[in-house]
Amino acid sequence: MLSKKMEEQLNNQVNAEMYSAYLYLAMSAFFEDQNLSGFAHWMYVQAQEEMTHAMKIYRFINDRGGRVELKAIDEPPKEWDDAVKVAQEVYEHEQKVTGMIHDLVNLAREEKDHGTDNMLQWFVAEQVEEENNADELLQQLKLIGGKGQGLLMLDRELSQRVFVDETQEDE
Ligand code: FEO
Repeated sequence: MLSKKMEEQLNNQVNAEMYSAYLYLAMSAFFEDQNLSGFAHWMYVQAQEEMTHAMKIYRFINDRGGRVELKAIDEPPKEWDDAVKVAQEVYEHEQKVTGMIHDLVNLAREEKDHGTDNMLQWFVAEQVEEENNADELLQQLKLIGGKGQGLLMLDRELSQRVFVDETQEDE
């Protein structure tokens, strides 16, 4: 059984993951508008992944006898100056999410809630990958100066990303 505090914080994390999906979908729409379909695809896949993160915690709350509470999702931004600014925001956003996951782990450990701690370790590992992907994208964009031929080549490369629901692999 989850403590009330843990239940509340996990519900907040469902909301945060949903917001992440919203944010990346907004970025995808921005890139569609810029005719950068590879970037748009990459962000669309990123949004799909975030939905699976939300649903993993949703299922966990239910499995532990908790009550899922869906809260309002904030409106994401609509415009960015350029692709570099978008990648910068992805990187910073993922760092923020990592902090939230770590706070949840700390709470689980305070409460000696090993079941939740164990579930959260999947997210700890996932966040390392998420930050790394975002940083790689940002560094590549900086390298090509965020424009010209390099941008089009990167756009082509990003169009290859394939969506995989990694949350299903260990359940
Ligand atoms: Fe679900 Fe990108 O963290």
